[in-house]
Amino acid sequence: MAEELLILSTTDKRQQYESLIPQIKGLISGEPNLIANLANVSAALKAAFGHLWIGFYLVEGDELVLGPFQGPIACTRIKKGKGVCGAVFEQGKTIIVPDVDAFPGHIACSSDSKSEIVLPVRSASGELVGVLDIDSSALDTFDEVDQEYLEKIVDLF
Ligand code: SME
Repeated sequence: MAEELLILSTTDKRQQYESLIPQIKGLISGEPNLIANLANVSAALKAAFGHLWIGFYLVEGDELVLGPFQGPIACTRIKKGKGVCGAVFEQGKTIIVPDVDAFPGHIACSSDSKSEIVLPVRSASGELVGVLDIDSSALDTFDEVDQEYLEKIVDLF
């Protein structure tokens, strides 16, 4: 794996993702342990974008349980269908929330969280094994560019 991460000093997020993805591939290649890889990917995304909270919840029965993350302490368990993460667990597709206060049932782990994107994480066989949750302290932070690249990143596991 690479020992250092190169973070571009650009505000062009497409460029930042393009530079980050090969580095993430290098970080996780050859390491079969999912937790180790999720931990490094959280840290790499935090270093590149600095968002408030970046991390994973993992499926345990009909709940999501907190996994590796970077940011403030967070809720440990989320029921299927609850909040944005639970909705992604139920529906199996990415949800972008420009304003968390406008999302019915949003779970406010931190009052600083204003917008978020949550993506399903699937195993090689296509089974939903968790979600990637990224929260921003600004409104309307995430768009289809984030969705496009973050879906590529979660596909690397
Ligand atoms: N935002 C999530 C809860 C998890 S935390 O924000 C880390 C939600 O509503 O699903």
